[in-house]
Amino acid sequence: MKNIVIKIGGSLLFNNTFQINTEKIIQFSTIIRNKVKYDSIVVVCGGGLIAREYIKTVRLFKRNEAFCDTIGIDISQINSRLIIASLGESAYPTVPKNVEDLSKAILFNKIVVMGGLQPGQSTTSVAFEAAELINAESLVILTDVEGIYDKDPKKYTDSKLIESLDYNQLQKIILKQSGNKQAAAGEYRIFDFVSLQILKRSRITVYIISGKDLNEFSKFWNGNTKIKGTIITN
Ligand code: UTP
Repeated sequence: MKNIVIKIGGSLLFNNTFQINTEKIIQFSTIIRNKVKYDSIVVVCGGGLIAREYIKTVRLFKRNEAFCDTIGIDISQINSRLIIASLGESAYPTVPKNVEDLSKAILFNKIVVMGGLQPGQSTTSVAFEAAELINAESLVILTDVEGIYDKDPKKYTDSKLIESLDYNQLQKIILKQSGNKQAAAGEYRIFDFVSLQILKRSRITVYIISGKDLNEFSKFWNGNTKIKGTIITN
């Protein structure tokens, strides 16, 4: 059995003017529809700009973070339906709302697409939960940067891409980046603690790849693991 989970960040589904990135969705679906190498495939969609915009306004209305999280979850599930629509017959038709739903959906031999599950975490955590449940050999995180950097690549021009990391090195980076700041709705970055904990106990191999043009992802899907990005193994 060879199973895989792919997380597609919301940043890839929309452009900065809130338009749906239709071309990217078609490209992504075309790549993964060719599922010859895998028995089970789960795609996890992020909430992206739209989720963050909703959360920003709802927070102004002084609703609490858990309420904001539920909005993020709803938007990520709507985003999932976009992918389901573009995958057509290849996709399981509904979005699993919990781990039990997922364990049933995966039996139908279709690509399962899902978003958030419960407050207090990110869709990256969902991707880890799904990967653990289906015994995924690998988890691919498609994001809007090339991988994990030593510093925030959006703030520092001298930041360097880290090509490989083990779990301890990853933990140090997460601790350094989060400091004492508590995670807020919409702000759980590439890795949060829930993801780290699951990673440590289930020992999944993680690839963080840019989804900006999907070339690297396409190479990966065709069996080439020498791609630009970050690989996390133990
Ligand atoms: P994400 O933050 O994971 O989506 O989910 P994103 O922003 O698209 O991901 P990146 O940045 O591209 O990787 C949107 C929000 O939904 C809530 C959180 O508030 C999260 O920030 N959420 C998501 C949950 O509360 N629980 C979940 O299981 C998933």
